Amino acid sequence: MSTTLITGIAELVTCDDEREGELGIVHDAAVVVDGEQIRWVGAAAQAPDADELRDLGGRAVLPGFVDSHTHLVFAGDRSAEFTARMTGEPYDGGGIAVSMAATRGASDEELRSLIGARLEQMRAQGTTSWEIKSGYGLNVEHEARSLRIAKEFTDETTFLGAHVVPPEAREDRAAYVDLVAGEMLEACAPHAKWIDVFCEPNSTYAFTGEESRRVLEAGAAKGLGLRVHGNQLGPGPGVQLAVELGAASVDHCTFLSDADVEALAGSDTVATVLPGVEFSTRMPYPRARDLIDAGATVALASDCNPGTCYSNSIPFVIALAVREMHLTPAEAVWAATRGAAKSLQRSDIGVVRVGSRADLAVLDAPSYLHLAYRPGVPIASAL
Ligand code: NIG
Ligand code: FE
Repeated sequence: MSTTLITGIAELVTCDDEREGELGIVHDAAVVVDGEQIRWVGAAAQAPDADELRDLGGRAVLPGFVDSHTHLVFAGDRSAEFTARMTGEPYDGGGIAVSMAATRGASDEELRSLIGARLEQMRAQGTTSWEIKSGYGLNVEHEARSLRIAKEFTDETTFLGAHVVPPEAREDRAAYVDLVAGEMLEACAPHAKWIDVFCEPNSTYAFTGEESRRVLEAGAAKGLGLRVHGNQLGPGPGVQLAVELGAASVDHCTFLSDADVEALAGSDTVATVLPGVEFSTRMPYPRARDLIDAGATVALASDCNPGTCYSNSIPFVIALAVREMHLTPAEAVWAATRGAAKSLQRSDIGVVRVGSRADLAVLDAPSYLHLAYRPGVPIASAL
């Protein structure tokens, strides 16, 4: 395969812990890629020859952003719900049924084209890997279809049949939990790497700790990795359950007790914070600063979905993390690359080193600091 030498990199953020500093930065750097993999990383003055040369003219290069939490398989529009929220309506998860109806009614081709357009926007903002959840099908046929289609776009697919109890099943919640942990899981597992649950006793539509445990244990028995939506709308059992079951990630973490922070710090479960959600639901931001100070691994992701955050912009999320959650720009960039990769248990993405995937983001700026410094300015893109 032919090789390309990329030069003109004023600042290369590697997130490689073998290098110095929290972001492993190399100044006046060069990278050699072969289309799929990174072949060489170092100072431009020492760069080897390659088949082709690409000069970036003094820009910053980073690992492509890893969006480890998205709900991209959906149709329909909930902008009115967002507008109502901005004038005081609280978010309670009830709108998920609106997206469910629209998603069930969309053809495979429509869903593919919606996902493709959303991913194109993400690449245009520097995201190069993504996880995609189901969760707007909410019956056997449509959950399996959502995952089959999601799998055309990523290996990081997550079965979220336990997003909410759909309207037609509300008379008998227990039967719906049985369905998710039984026949639905059976149909979905072949298309999924992960299983996730909206563990939220503060919403009548979502799942209690015990219901969540049942679904997660069934998923684990089928060989799926565990992820949890936890502690989003209020204090709850999600974080402790995720830690107890050894989940790869517990996401949202908006309402954390000191014991939750401690449990995360003492575990391998990544705390994924999604500040676009707090922005779009006008909620308090998670205690990400405390999590980092306590020693927990923190990831940042978009949670792109039609209800709580219809933004797929990782640069926006980085700016929020710095401005609203008091992360340093370096911590925020690490969380959106290496931290998010860790939440997917991947060591080949979110890092620039020999052998990692040739997934890079480039900034129309000389330093990663500009990501938080210039919010809303389209400086990032996938290389
Ligand atoms: O991650 N909390 C649950 N699921 C999504 C929102 C889904 C929706 O409202 O459509 C979230 O915030
Ligand atoms: Fe989510």
